Amino acid sequence: MSELVKLKRRERIAIVTADNPPANELSAEVQRSLLKCIKAAINDPEVEGVVLACAGPTFLASAAIVEPGKPVEAPDSDELLAVIENSPKPIVAAIRGDALSGGLELALACHFRVATEGAKLGFPEVKLGVLPSGGGTQRLPRAVGPELAVKMIVGGDPISACEAAKNGLIDEIVESPDAGGEAFVRKVLADRRPLRRLRDDNSKIVAARADRSILTNAIASMTKRAGRLEAPFAAAEAVGCAIDLPFEEGLRKERETFRKLAANDQSKALRHVFFAEREARNIVDIPASTRPRPVERVAVIGAGKMGGGIAMSFVNAGIPVTLIDVDAEQLKRGLGVMQKNWETSAARGSIPADAPAKRMALVSGAVGIDNVRDADLIIEAVFESMALKLEVFSQLDTFAKPGAVLASNTSYYDINEMAKMTKRPQDVLGMHFNLPANVMKLCEVVRGAKTAPDALQTAVSISWKIGKVPVVVGVCHGFVGNRMWDQRNNQVQKMLYEGALPQQVDGVMTKFGMAMGPFAMVDLSSLEGSWRMRKESGEKAPIEDALCEAGRFGQRWGKGYYKYEAGSRVPMPDPEVEKLIDETLTRLGCKRRSINDEEILERLIYPMINEGARILEEGIAARPGDIDLVWLYGFAWPIYRGGPMYWADQVGLAHIADRLTFYAKETNDSSLEPAPLLERLAAQGKGFASLAPHTKAA
Ligand code: NAI
Repeated sequence: MSELVKLKRRERIAIVTADNPPANELSAEVQRSLLKCIKAAINDPEVEGVVLACAGPTFLASAAIVEPGKPVEAPDSDELLAVIENSPKPIVAAIRGDALSGGLELALACHFRVATEGAKLGFPEVKLGVLPSGGGTQRLPRAVGPELAVKMIVGGDPISACEAAKNGLIDEIVESPDAGGEAFVRKVLADRRPLRRLRDDNSKIVAARADRSILTNAIASMTKRAGRLEAPFAAAEAVGCAIDLPFEEGLRKERETFRKLAANDQSKALRHVFFAEREARNIVDIPASTRPRPVERVAVIGAGKMGGGIAMSFVNAGIPVTLIDVDAEQLKRGLGVMQKNWETSAARGSIPADAPAKRMALVSGAVGIDNVRDADLIIEAVFESMALKLEVFSQLDTFAKPGAVLASNTSYYDINEMAKMTKRPQDVLGMHFNLPANVMKLCEVVRGAKTAPDALQTAVSISWKIGKVPVVVGVCHGFVGNRMWDQRNNQVQKMLYEGALPQQVDGVMTKFGMAMGPFAMVDLSSLEGSWRMRKESGEKAPIEDALCEAGRFGQRWGKGYYKYEAGSRVPMPDPEVEKLIDETLTRLGCKRRSINDEEILERLIYPMINEGARILEEGIAARPGDIDLVWLYGFAWPIYRGGPMYWADQVGLAHIADRLTFYAKETNDSSLEPAPLLERLAAQGKGFASLAPHTKAA
């Protein structure tokens, strides 16, 4: 027998153990060996029952995820699953660690399942734009009923062993999978328990056959946020087939849908995102052995919009926070907002009822920067004023304990200048979260010229720990996200002067798939900060200035580029804004022209990609995938388009370079000239994906 799968016998019980380190990948060879061993056990007259177990920390998992450019094949597990399910002798899956995808499908073909308490069971396929393809969509509803099956297959999140036990997905929670599995199969034999073959067991789906609303309600709640993603809807339909069709026909449909999804652009984009996230875990240019510093307490300075959200993110992960402000009233207000946010979540049922009190107990509010003394990580989130930030960093040097990581949440300013205010520039970096910081997953971790590798690793590791997606970037004005955003914003503003209205521009962007258009987004984060900065630098932006002077700072004020009804976040076009724009343009002597949607789309997105090319050439971002993550998790770029740099590769860099050249000439705007890297790649017929990772020399 192959070494990948071992067959042992303990009296009348056969133990089939897969052993394919490190993750027990269900490769074609493992499947062949499993088939051989299971057939041998079934045919052995001495054997009465079988345990299917795994060596190592986790149960079997599907073969490695296929890179976007390569074809995805459904695993050919049909024969193996049929042999297991049709076995006349009981077969028990003994699960430890994760039973995901093909691993769970294998377990579902077994007649019984036991699992250790820490096990997780699920079908994450939908997150890669496909659906389970080895009968998962047909057997799971028969095991747990359609509602939980929809939740797991359409949502893609795994469930705990406890929840699985409650819902009949596993039969028993055991301490050790091997001994527990063996004891369980002996019990089955002793009790002469009938074998549960899920393909023939319709007991959990008959109710949904009689009452369609059970299924449609479950699907409606799970696809609410799916937007234009195809896989969740296809997966929901596949679960529907389990209710409506005979098992074999449902299987055929599942396979057919899998093939269609695996070949489409969305699945390729989602696989790109998966790989980009995996790569982002590797910080370029630091020794592989670098360990993070321990972070047991965090201090956040500034209890405003960002400070409160950042503090919430740490507390949500169980890390105590000292929230500090210079102003006692602001501190009280900030703490109040945090409490209210948690109470709203509890009222909605998304966190337990006692969570708000427990979380508030992890926050201590304080006035004065000297209160940072205990913190291992300090994040400054005071007003966006360089003078103020320099002062704060100089105070931090006095009060922070040695080895504490000192981070700024600045959106634009130079981290190296802040580092110079301290005698410990190696501990200084940026941690730039996006608004609302307790919701948005992006954290741009800004690496200063002198930032120590372990300080960088600390910021990256703690960000993952609190559920963020950290992307390491270099120092420059606006880092990656805002620097690209600014290019887009330049065009947005120019188009306003040429004749486009906020609702037209935002409409093009939401049609493209962005959750929000640029005007609605500025309204959300407020026009005030950039107005302050323009005032500091003496710059002018006539329309934005006019809006601010009219008190239209954004959503919080009930008006900005749009108007908002009291308590509503829905932007509504405001004739007063059109009037204000018209008046400003007349004052400036500009004539409005009609701009079509194609021009809006190209002039908004191509300059961002152009800036992305500059960012890559300068080594501000190490990889195009890092830039994609910034836009996916910080700016709600539609995930099924994979991020701007990935999308650019699909459109073709030569086309983008041509259009940029055209608009540069047409609008007399040299900033639109294609970046050297874009031109070079376009001339070579290559994409950004062809680039090797590289960072700015510190
Ligand atoms: P905010 O105006 O809502 O809050 C700033 C807070 O800092 C106020 O509570 C103020 O009392 C406090 N503060 C001022 N001086 C202080 C001092 N010396 N010591 C302690 N506290 C002090 O500002 P917001 O929007 O939260 O921005 C904070 C930082 O986050 C800025 O650097 C900004 O660029 C950055 N940021 C803002 C985003 C946004 O959309 N608002 C997005 C990403 C970053």
